[in-house]
Amino acid sequence: MQRRKFLRNSALFTAMLAAGQASAFTAWKSGTQKRIALVGAGIRGTTLWGKNLVENYGKQVRFVGLCDINPGRLAHGLRYTGMQCPTFDNFDEMMRRTAPEWVIVTTVDNTHHEFIIKAMEAGANVITEKPMTTTADKCQAILDTQKRTGKEVLVTFNYRHQPHATAIKQLLHEERLGRVTSVDFNWYLNVYHGASYFRRWHGYVEKGGSLWVHKATHHFDLLNWWIGADPVEVSAYGALEHYGKNGPFRSKNCRSCPHKKDCRYYWDITKQPFLMDLYAKNEKYDGYLRDACVYREDIDIWDKMSAQILYDNGVVVNYSLTTYSPYEGWRVAFNGENGRLDSWQDIPYQKGEYTPAEQEDLHAAEMATGREEIPTEFHEIIVHDNFSPDFESIKVPKYRYGHGGGDKRMLDYLFVNPDAADPLGHMAGTRDGALSILVGIAARKSIAERRAVRLDELVKV
Ligand SMILES: NC(=O)c1ccc[n+]([C@@H]2O[C@H](COP(=O)([O-])OP(=O)(O)OC[C@H]3O[C@@H](n4cnc5c(N)ncnc54)[C@H](O)[C@@H]3O)[C@@H](O)[C@H]2O)c1
Repeated sequence: MQRRKFLRNSALFTAMLAAGQASAFTAWKSGTQKRIALVGAGIRGTTLWGKNLVENYGKQVRFVGLCDINPGRLAHGLRYTGMQCPTFDNFDEMMRRTAPEWVIVTTVDNTHHEFIIKAMEAGANVITEKPMTTTADKCQAILDTQKRTGKEVLVTFNYRHQPHATAIKQLLHEERLGRVTSVDFNWYLNVYHGASYFRRWHGYVEKGGSLWVHKATHHFDLLNWWIGADPVEVSAYGALEHYGKNGPFRSKNCRSCPHKKDCRYYWDITKQPFLMDLYAKNEKYDGYLRDACVYREDIDIWDKMSAQILYDNGVVVNYSLTTYSPYEGWRVAFNGENGRLDSWQDIPYQKGEYTPAEQEDLHAAEMATGREEIPTEFHEIIVHDNFSPDFESIKVPKYRYGHGGGDKRMLDYLFVNPDAADPLGHMAGTRDGALSILVGIAARKSIAERRAVRLDELVKV
Protein backbone atom coordinates (compact mmCIF):
# COMPACT_ATOMS: atom_id res chain seq x y z
CA MET A 1 0.00 0.00 0.00
CA GLN A 2 1.44 3.33 -1.02
CA ARG A 3 1.42 5.98 1.64
CA ARG A 4 0.88 9.61 0.73
CA LYS A 5 1.99 12.20 3.21
CA PHE A 6 0.68 15.69 3.57
CA LEU A 7 1.74 18.37 5.94
CA ARG A 8 -1.12 20.59 6.98
CA ASN A 9 0.46 23.00 9.36
CA SER A 10 -1.26 25.20 11.84
CA ALA A 11 -1.00 28.24 9.51
CA LEU A 12 -3.56 26.63 7.21
CA PHE A 13 -6.00 26.17 10.03
CA THR A 14 -5.37 29.68 11.29
CA ALA A 15 -6.20 30.97 7.80
CA MET A 16 -9.42 28.97 7.79
CA LEU A 17 -10.38 30.53 11.08
CA ALA A 18 -9.96 33.99 9.63
CA ALA A 19 -12.88 33.56 7.23
CA GLY A 20 -16.49 32.85 8.04
CA GLN A 21 -18.99 33.49 10.76
CA ALA A 22 -18.40 35.74 13.76
CA SER A 23 -18.01 34.50 17.31
CA ALA A 24 -21.16 33.74 19.29
CA PHE A 25 -19.85 36.03 22.01
CA THR A 26 -20.63 39.68 21.62
CA ALA A 27 -20.19 41.14 25.10
CA TRP A 28 -16.41 41.25 24.89
CA LYS A 29 -15.02 43.59 22.27
CA SER A 30 -11.35 43.89 21.52
CA GLY A 31 -9.40 46.87 22.77
CA THR A 32 -11.33 47.16 26.03
CA GLN A 33 -10.17 46.24 29.51
CA LYS A 34 -12.71 44.28 31.55
CA ARG A 35 -13.24 44.39 35.30
CA ILE A 36 -13.16 40.77 36.41
CA ALA A 37 -13.79 38.93 39.68
CA LEU A 38 -12.63 35.35 40.24
CA VAL A 39 -14.21 32.80 42.58
CA GLY A 40 -12.22 29.66 43.43
CA ALA A 41 -8.54 30.19 44.38
CA GLY A 42 -7.48 26.58 43.77
CA ILE A 43 -4.92 25.38 41.26
CA ARG A 44 -6.87 26.18 38.08
CA GLY A 45 -8.09 29.53 39.36
CA THR A 46 -4.70 30.77 40.50
CA THR A 47 -2.58 29.40 37.65
CA LEU A 48 -4.33 29.59 34.25
CA TRP A 49 -6.90 32.22 35.17
CA GLY A 50 -4.99 34.09 37.89
CA LYS A 51 -1.23 34.44 37.48
CA ASN A 52 -1.40 33.82 33.72
CA LEU A 53 -3.98 36.57 33.09
CA VAL A 54 -2.17 39.03 35.37
CA GLU A 55 1.15 38.41 33.61
CA ASN A 56 0.08 37.91 30.00
CA TYR A 57 -3.30 39.60 29.52
CA GLY A 58 -2.93 42.70 31.71
CA LYS A 59 -4.15 45.04 28.96
CA GLN A 60 -7.43 43.16 28.63
CA VAL A 61 -8.11 42.15 32.22
CA ARG A 62 -8.20 43.97 35.54
CA PHE A 63 -9.03 41.87 38.59
CA VAL A 64 -11.34 43.65 41.03
CA GLY A 65 -12.01 40.80 43.46
CA LEU A 66 -10.84 37.31 44.46
CA CYS A 67 -13.03 34.95 46.48
CA ASP A 68 -12.63 31.56 48.18
CA ILE A 69 -14.13 30.01 51.31
CA ASN A 70 -10.70 28.74 52.42
CA PRO A 71 -8.90 31.77 53.92
CA GLY A 72 -5.47 30.14 53.53
CA ARG A 73 -5.93 29.47 49.81
CA LEU A 74 -7.39 32.95 49.40
CA ALA A 75 -4.26 34.57 50.88
CA HIS A 76 -2.03 32.23 48.87
CA GLY A 77 -3.98 33.11 45.71
CA LEU A 78 -3.44 36.83 46.16
CA ARG A 79 0.28 36.37 46.81
CA TYR A 80 0.86 33.86 44.04
CA THR A 81 -1.10 35.58 41.27
CA GLY A 82 0.08 39.13 41.89
CA MET A 83 -3.52 40.38 41.70
CA GLN A 84 -3.96 43.87 43.13
CA CYS A 85 -7.49 43.57 44.44
CA PRO A 86 -9.50 42.96 47.60
CA THR A 87 -10.24 39.38 48.73
CA PHE A 88 -13.54 37.97 49.97
CA ASP A 89 -14.75 34.81 51.67
CA ASN A 90 -18.31 35.69 50.65
CA PHE A 91 -19.30 35.81 46.99
CA ASP A 92 -22.40 38.00 47.50
CA GLU A 93 -20.33 40.61 49.28
CA MET A 94 -17.72 40.56 46.50
CA MET A 95 -20.43 41.12 43.89
CA ARG A 96 -21.97 43.96 45.90
CA ARG A 97 -18.72 45.75 46.60
CA THR A 98 -16.91 45.28 43.29
CA ALA A 99 -19.69 45.09 40.63
CA PRO A 100 -17.54 43.19 38.11
CA GLU A 101 -18.42 43.08 34.41
CA TRP A 102 -17.30 39.43 34.19
CA VAL A 103 -16.98 36.65 36.76
CA ILE A 104 -14.62 33.69 36.34
CA VAL A 105 -15.84 30.54 38.13
CA THR A 106 -13.14 28.02 39.14
CA THR A 107 -14.62 26.44 42.27
CA VAL A 108 -15.45 22.78 42.96
CA ASP A 109 -17.82 21.57 40.21
CA ASN A 110 -21.00 21.16 42.29
CA THR A 111 -20.87 24.85 43.28
CA HIS A 112 -20.49 26.35 39.77
CA HIS A 113 -24.24 26.86 39.26
CA GLU A 114 -24.51 29.05 42.36
CA PHE A 115 -21.94 31.55 41.10
CA ILE A 116 -22.98 31.41 37.44
CA ILE A 117 -26.57 32.20 38.40
CA LYS A 118 -25.77 34.88 40.99
CA ALA A 119 -23.31 36.57 38.63
CA MET A 120 -25.87 36.76 35.80
CA GLU A 121 -28.51 38.04 38.21
CA ALA A 122 -26.10 40.76 39.35
CA GLY A 123 -25.64 41.86 35.71
CA ALA A 124 -22.28 40.22 35.00
CA ASN A 125 -21.24 37.90 32.17
CA VAL A 126 -19.56 34.65 33.10
CA ILE A 127 -16.58 32.51 32.16
CA THR A 128 -17.00 29.14 33.86
CA GLU A 129 -14.65 26.22 34.06
CA LYS A 130 -16.01 22.91 32.86
CA PRO A 131 -18.15 21.07 33.74
CA MET A 132 -20.82 23.77 33.63
CA THR A 133 -22.51 21.98 36.52
CA THR A 134 -23.15 18.45 37.83
CA THR A 135 -26.93 17.76 37.87
CA ALA A 136 -29.91 18.21 35.55
CA ASP A 137 -31.71 20.53 38.00
CA LYS A 138 -28.74 22.86 38.33
CA CYS A 139 -28.31 22.81 34.55
CA GLN A 140 -31.95 23.79 34.02
CA ALA A 141 -31.59 26.62 36.54
CA ILE A 142 -28.56 28.02 34.66
CA LEU A 143 -30.36 27.84 31.30
CA ASP A 144 -33.48 29.50 32.72
CA THR A 145 -31.47 32.31 34.36
CA GLN A 146 -29.57 33.00 31.17
CA LYS A 147 -32.81 33.19 29.20
CA ARG A 148 -34.22 35.63 31.74
CA THR A 149 -31.13 37.85 32.12
CA GLY A 150 -29.69 37.69 28.58
CA LYS A 151 -26.14 37.55 29.94
CA GLU A 152 -23.33 35.67 28.23
CA VAL A 153 -21.75 32.51 29.64
CA LEU A 154 -18.58 31.04 28.18
CA VAL A 155 -17.83 27.40 29.07
CA THR A 156 -14.11 26.78 28.81
CA PHE A 157 -13.80 23.82 26.47
CA ASN A 158 -10.08 24.23 25.92
CA TYR A 159 -9.74 20.81 24.21
CA ARG A 160 -11.62 22.18 21.18
CA HIS A 161 -8.83 24.72 20.70
CA GLN A 162 -6.02 22.16 20.39
CA PRO A 163 -4.65 22.29 16.82
CA HIS A 164 -5.16 18.50 16.65
CA ALA A 165 -8.87 18.62 17.64
CA THR A 166 -9.34 21.61 15.32
CA ALA A 167 -7.84 19.74 12.37
CA ILE A 168 -10.25 16.82 12.90
CA LYS A 169 -13.16 19.28 13.10
CA GLN A 170 -12.04 20.99 9.89
CA LEU A 171 -11.92 17.70 7.97
CA LEU A 172 -15.38 16.66 9.18
CA HIS A 173 -16.72 20.17 8.51
CA GLU A 174 -15.46 19.85 4.91
CA GLU A 175 -17.36 16.52 4.75
CA ARG A 176 -14.13 14.75 3.84
CA LEU A 177 -15.75 11.39 4.70
CA GLY A 178 -19.19 12.25 3.33
CA ARG A 179 -21.94 11.78 5.91
CA VAL A 180 -20.52 10.44 9.19
CA THR A 181 -22.49 7.45 10.48
CA SER A 182 -20.65 6.16 13.57
CA VAL A 183 -17.75 7.01 15.87
CA ASP A 184 -15.48 5.07 18.24
CA PHE A 185 -13.86 7.19 20.97
CA ASN A 186 -11.73 5.67 23.74
CA TRP A 187 -9.95 7.69 26.42
CA TYR A 188 -7.25 6.21 28.66
CA LEU A 189 -6.18 7.87 31.93
CA ASN A 190 -2.95 6.47 33.32
CA VAL A 191 -2.18 5.18 36.82
CA TYR A 192 -0.67 8.59 37.72
CA HIS A 193 -3.17 11.14 36.43
CA GLY A 194 -6.13 8.72 36.53
CA ALA A 195 -5.37 7.85 40.15
CA SER A 196 -5.21 11.52 41.10
CA TYR A 197 -8.97 11.86 40.58
CA PHE A 198 -9.47 9.28 43.32
CA ARG A 199 -7.22 11.22 45.73
CA ARG A 200 -9.22 14.43 45.45
CA TRP A 201 -12.81 15.72 45.83
CA HIS A 202 -13.35 14.30 42.34
CA GLY A 203 -13.83 10.86 43.99
CA TYR A 204 -17.37 11.75 45.09
CA VAL A 205 -20.39 11.97 42.76
CA GLU A 206 -21.74 14.76 44.94
CA LYS A 207 -18.69 16.99 44.30
CA GLY A 208 -17.73 16.39 40.66
CA GLY A 209 -20.69 14.51 39.23
CA SER A 210 -18.29 11.52 38.75
CA LEU A 211 -15.84 11.28 35.85
CA TRP A 212 -18.89 10.83 33.59
CA VAL A 213 -19.33 14.58 34.13
CA HIS A 214 -16.12 16.05 35.55
CA LYS A 215 -13.79 14.50 32.97
CA ALA A 216 -16.02 13.20 30.18
CA THR A 217 -17.67 16.61 29.70
CA HIS A 218 -14.53 17.39 27.66
CA HIS A 219 -14.92 14.20 25.63
CA PHE A 220 -18.67 14.55 25.06
CA ASP A 221 -18.18 18.17 24.08
CA LEU A 222 -15.54 17.17 21.52
CA LEU A 223 -17.90 14.53 20.13
CA ASN A 224 -20.87 16.93 19.97
CA TRP A 225 -18.72 19.56 18.28
CA TRP A 226 -16.96 17.20 15.88
CA ILE A 227 -20.21 15.48 14.86
CA GLY A 228 -22.07 18.81 14.66
CA ALA A 229 -25.31 17.35 16.04
CA ASP A 230 -27.15 16.96 19.34
CA PRO A 231 -26.94 13.80 21.47
CA VAL A 232 -30.43 12.42 22.21
CA GLU A 233 -30.09 9.06 23.98
CA VAL A 234 -27.48 7.27 26.12
CA SER A 235 -27.02 3.64 27.24
CA ALA A 236 -24.19 3.12 29.69
CA TYR A 237 -22.35 0.65 31.88
CA GLY A 238 -19.87 1.39 34.63
CA ALA A 239 -18.22 -0.06 37.70
CA LEU A 240 -15.82 0.79 40.52
CA GLU A 241 -13.55 -2.23 40.64
CA HIS A 242 -9.98 -0.96 41.05
CA TYR A 243 -9.86 2.03 43.44
CA GLY A 244 -11.93 2.78 46.56
CA LYS A 245 -13.23 -0.19 48.52
CA ASN A 246 -11.35 -2.58 46.20
CA GLY A 247 -7.94 -1.72 47.66
CA PRO A 248 -5.99 -4.31 49.71
CA PHE A 249 -5.48 -1.76 52.53
CA ARG A 250 -6.23 1.85 53.17
CA SER A 251 -5.45 4.89 55.26
CA LYS A 252 -6.66 8.50 55.48
CA ASN A 253 -3.96 9.95 53.25
CA CYS A 254 -0.51 9.20 51.89
CA ARG A 255 1.45 11.32 54.38
CA SER A 256 0.05 9.43 57.38
CA CYS A 257 -0.11 6.01 55.71
CA PRO A 258 1.44 2.90 57.35
CA HIS A 259 1.38 1.13 53.93
CA LYS A 260 3.67 3.58 52.10
CA LYS A 261 6.13 0.86 51.13
CA ASP A 262 3.50 -1.56 49.81
CA CYS A 263 1.18 0.81 47.99
CA ARG A 264 1.73 1.33 44.25
CA TYR A 265 -0.30 4.53 44.56
CA TYR A 266 1.77 6.11 47.33
CA TRP A 267 2.23 9.74 46.32
CA ASP A 268 4.49 12.13 48.23
CA ILE A 269 2.99 15.61 48.15
CA THR A 270 5.79 16.90 50.42
CA LYS A 271 8.11 16.82 47.39
CA GLN A 272 5.99 19.48 45.67
CA PRO A 273 6.36 22.86 47.43
CA PHE A 274 3.64 24.53 45.34
CA LEU A 275 1.05 21.90 46.27
CA MET A 276 2.15 21.99 49.92
CA ASP A 277 1.56 25.77 49.98
CA LEU A 278 -1.74 25.56 48.13
CA TYR A 279 -3.30 22.57 49.89
CA ALA A 280 -1.41 21.00 52.80
CA LYS A 281 -0.80 24.28 54.64
CA ASN A 282 -4.51 25.11 54.37
CA GLU A 283 -5.95 21.78 55.52
CA LYS A 284 -6.50 23.30 58.94
CA TYR A 285 -9.29 25.51 57.57
CA ASP A 286 -11.47 22.92 55.82
CA GLY A 287 -9.90 19.49 56.37
CA TYR A 288 -9.43 18.93 52.62
CA LEU A 289 -6.64 16.39 52.00
CA ARG A 290 -5.09 16.71 48.54
CA ASP A 291 -3.24 13.39 49.03
CA ALA A 292 -6.22 11.39 50.31
CA CYS A 293 -6.10 7.60 49.97
CA VAL A 294 -7.19 6.22 46.58
CA TYR A 295 -8.62 3.23 48.47
CA ARG A 296 -11.01 5.23 50.68
CA GLU A 297 -14.14 3.18 51.23
CA ASP A 298 -16.50 6.08 50.60
CA ILE A 299 -15.28 6.77 47.03
CA ASP A 300 -18.46 6.37 44.99
CA ILE A 301 -17.51 7.23 41.38
CA TRP A 302 -16.96 4.71 38.59
CA ASP A 303 -13.44 3.82 37.43
CA LYS A 304 -14.57 1.92 34.32
CA MET A 305 -17.09 3.58 32.00
CA SER A 306 -18.61 2.68 28.68
CA ALA A 307 -21.51 4.25 26.76
CA GLN A 308 -23.37 4.24 23.48
CA ILE A 309 -24.71 7.64 22.42
CA LEU A 310 -27.31 8.23 19.72
CA TYR A 311 -27.34 11.62 17.94
CA ASP A 312 -30.26 13.41 16.31
CA ASN A 313 -28.66 12.94 12.86
CA GLY A 314 -28.47 9.16 13.35
CA VAL A 315 -24.77 8.98 14.29
CA VAL A 316 -24.01 6.32 16.92
CA VAL A 317 -20.97 6.70 19.20
CA ASN A 318 -19.16 3.98 21.15
CA TYR A 319 -17.31 5.67 24.02
CA SER A 320 -15.16 4.34 26.84
CA LEU A 321 -13.08 5.82 29.66
CA THR A 322 -10.61 3.91 31.79
CA THR A 323 -8.73 5.31 34.79
CA TYR A 324 -5.88 2.87 35.47
CA SER A 325 -4.07 2.44 32.18
CA PRO A 326 -0.25 2.14 31.95
CA TYR A 327 -0.31 5.03 29.51
CA GLU A 328 -2.42 8.13 28.98
CA GLY A 329 -3.91 8.88 25.59
CA TRP A 330 -6.90 8.46 23.29
CA ARG A 331 -8.09 7.04 20.00
CA VAL A 332 -10.91 8.21 17.78
CA ALA A 333 -12.32 6.79 14.54
CA PHE A 334 -15.09 8.23 12.37
CA ASN A 335 -16.86 5.98 9.88
CA GLY A 336 -18.36 7.93 6.98
CA GLU A 337 -20.24 6.99 3.85
CA ASN A 338 -17.10 7.54 1.75
CA GLY A 339 -14.37 6.35 4.10
CA ARG A 340 -12.85 6.45 7.54
CA LEU A 341 -10.80 8.84 9.69
CA ASP A 342 -8.49 7.52 12.42
CA SER A 343 -6.48 9.55 14.88
CA TRP A 344 -4.92 9.21 18.33
CA GLN A 345 -2.85 10.98 20.95
CA ASP A 346 0.04 9.64 22.99
CA ILE A 347 -0.24 5.92 22.26
CA PRO A 348 3.36 4.98 23.13
CA TYR A 349 3.63 2.00 20.78
CA GLN A 350 2.75 4.12 17.76
CA LYS A 351 5.99 6.04 18.26
CA GLY A 352 7.85 2.89 19.24
CA GLU A 353 8.73 3.69 22.84
CA TYR A 354 7.23 3.61 26.31
CA THR A 355 8.78 5.89 28.92
CA PRO A 356 7.41 5.53 32.46
CA ALA A 357 8.97 8.86 33.53
CA GLU A 358 7.10 10.58 30.72
CA GLN A 359 3.85 9.00 31.91
CA GLU A 360 4.35 10.55 35.36
CA ASP A 361 5.11 13.97 33.89
CA LEU A 362 2.41 14.10 31.22
CA HIS A 363 -0.16 15.71 33.46
CA ALA A 364 2.24 18.41 34.65
CA ALA A 365 2.78 19.43 31.02
CA GLU A 366 -0.97 19.34 30.40
CA MET A 367 -1.54 21.78 33.26
CA ALA A 368 1.44 24.07 32.47
CA THR A 369 0.30 27.56 31.56
CA GLY A 370 1.81 30.47 29.68
CA ARG A 371 4.57 28.36 28.11
CA GLU A 372 5.75 29.28 24.62
CA GLU A 373 6.36 26.16 22.61
CA ILE A 374 7.86 25.34 19.22
CA PRO A 375 6.50 21.92 18.31
CA THR A 376 8.98 19.35 17.09
CA GLU A 377 6.57 16.41 16.76
CA PHE A 378 3.28 15.82 14.99
CA HIS A 379 -0.10 14.28 15.61
CA GLU A 380 -1.29 12.12 12.75
CA ILE A 381 -4.75 11.93 11.19
CA ILE A 382 -5.35 9.12 8.71
CA VAL A 383 -8.10 9.54 6.13
CA HIS A 384 -8.78 6.45 4.06
CA ASP A 385 -11.32 6.55 1.20
CA ASN A 386 -13.38 3.42 0.59
CA PHE A 387 -12.11 1.23 -2.28
CA SER A 388 -8.85 3.23 -2.40
CA PRO A 389 -5.44 1.59 -2.07
CA ASP A 390 -4.07 4.86 -0.70
CA PHE A 391 -4.61 6.69 2.49
CA GLU A 392 -3.81 10.23 3.42
CA SER A 393 -1.65 10.93 6.46
CA ILE A 394 -2.22 14.46 7.72
CA LYS A 395 0.34 15.82 10.16
CA VAL A 396 -0.65 18.41 12.73
CA PRO A 397 1.98 20.12 14.93
CA LYS A 398 1.97 18.58 18.39
CA TYR A 399 1.73 21.01 21.29
CA ARG A 400 2.24 19.58 24.76
CA TYR A 401 1.76 22.39 27.26
CA GLY A 402 -1.57 23.75 28.50
CA HIS A 403 -3.88 20.95 27.34
CA GLY A 404 -2.27 20.37 23.95
CA GLY A 405 -1.98 24.09 23.23
CA GLY A 406 -5.73 24.54 23.82
CA ASP A 407 -5.50 26.81 26.87
CA LYS A 408 -3.41 29.51 25.18
CA ARG A 409 -5.47 29.51 21.98
CA MET A 410 -8.71 29.75 23.93
CA LEU A 411 -7.45 32.67 26.03
CA ASP A 412 -6.02 34.52 23.02
CA TYR A 413 -9.32 34.08 21.24
CA LEU A 414 -11.26 35.28 24.24
CA PHE A 415 -9.12 38.19 25.38
CA VAL A 416 -6.91 39.31 22.46
CA ASN A 417 -9.06 38.63 19.38
CA PRO A 418 -12.66 38.51 20.62
CA ASP A 419 -13.98 40.06 17.39
CA ALA A 420 -12.34 37.41 15.19
CA ALA A 421 -14.45 35.12 13.06
CA ASP A 422 -15.25 31.69 14.49
CA PRO A 423 -16.11 29.58 11.43
CA LEU A 424 -15.71 26.26 13.22
CA GLY A 425 -17.61 27.42 16.31
CA HIS A 426 -14.80 27.01 18.84
CA MET A 427 -16.37 29.25 21.45
CA ALA A 428 -18.82 27.33 23.63
CA GLY A 429 -21.79 28.61 25.61
CA THR A 430 -24.43 27.18 27.93
CA ARG A 431 -26.03 25.02 25.23
CA ASP A 432 -22.71 23.25 24.61
CA GLY A 433 -22.03 23.15 28.35
CA ALA A 434 -25.44 21.57 28.92
CA LEU A 435 -25.34 19.01 26.10
CA SER A 436 -21.92 17.73 27.16
CA ILE A 437 -22.80 17.24 30.84
CA LEU A 438 -26.22 15.81 30.01
CA VAL A 439 -24.61 12.87 28.22
CA GLY A 440 -22.74 12.07 31.45
CA ILE A 441 -25.80 12.67 33.65
CA ALA A 442 -27.84 10.40 31.35
CA ALA A 443 -25.07 7.76 31.61
CA ARG A 444 -25.28 7.85 35.43
CA LYS A 445 -29.06 7.43 35.22
CA SER A 446 -28.74 4.67 32.63
CA ILE A 447 -26.44 2.67 34.93
CA ALA A 448 -28.73 3.20 37.93
CA GLU A 449 -31.95 2.31 36.08
CA ARG A 450 -30.49 -0.22 33.60
CA ARG A 451 -32.13 1.38 30.58
CA ALA A 452 -31.47 3.83 27.74
CA VAL A 453 -32.05 7.42 28.90
CA ARG A 454 -33.19 10.24 26.61
CA LEU A 455 -31.66 13.66 27.23
CA ASP A 456 -35.04 15.35 26.93
CA GLU A 457 -36.10 13.48 30.08
CA LEU A 458 -33.53 15.54 31.97
CA VAL A 459 -33.56 19.17 30.82
CA LYS A 460 -35.18 21.43 28.23
CA VAL A 461 -32.18 22.84 26.36
N1 LIG B 1 -10.51 23.02 31.62
C1 LIG B 1 -9.63 22.23 32.20
O1 LIG B 1 -8.92 21.54 31.51
C2 LIG B 1 -9.54 22.19 33.70
C3 LIG B 1 -8.38 21.73 34.34
C4 LIG B 1 -8.36 21.69 35.73
C5 LIG B 1 -9.47 22.09 36.46
N2 LIG B 1 -10.57 22.53 35.81
C6 LIG B 1 -11.78 22.94 36.56
O2 LIG B 1 -11.45 24.02 37.42
C7 LIG B 1 -12.25 23.96 38.59
C8 LIG B 1 -11.34 24.02 39.81
O3 LIG B 1 -10.52 22.87 39.82
P1 LIG B 1 -9.16 22.83 40.67
O4 LIG B 1 -8.39 21.68 40.18
O5 LIG B 1 -8.56 24.18 40.67
O6 LIG B 1 -9.73 22.49 42.14
P2 LIG B 1 -9.13 22.95 43.53
O7 LIG B 1 -9.64 21.99 44.53
O8 LIG B 1 -7.67 23.19 43.45
O9 LIG B 1 -9.80 24.39 43.77
C9 LIG B 1 -11.16 24.59 44.03
C10 LIG B 1 -11.28 25.83 44.92
O10 LIG B 1 -12.68 26.15 45.07
C11 LIG B 1 -12.86 26.60 46.40
N3 LIG B 1 -14.28 26.52 46.75
C12 LIG B 1 -15.04 25.41 46.92
N4 LIG B 1 -16.30 25.73 47.22
C13 LIG B 1 -16.36 27.09 47.23
C14 LIG B 1 -17.38 28.03 47.48
N5 LIG B 1 -18.61 27.63 47.80
N6 LIG B 1 -17.07 29.34 47.41
C15 LIG B 1 -15.82 29.76 47.10
N7 LIG B 1 -14.79 28.91 46.86
C16 LIG B 1 -15.06 27.59 46.92
C17 LIG B 1 -11.96 25.67 47.23
O11 LIG B 1 -11.69 26.18 48.50
C18 LIG B 1 -10.73 25.60 46.33
O12 LIG B 1 -9.80 26.61 46.65
C19 LIG B 1 -13.06 22.67 38.51
O13 LIG B 1 -14.35 22.95 38.11
C20 LIG B 1 -12.33 21.86 37.47
O14 LIG B 1 -13.21 21.02 36.73
C21 LIG B 1 -10.61 22.59 34.46
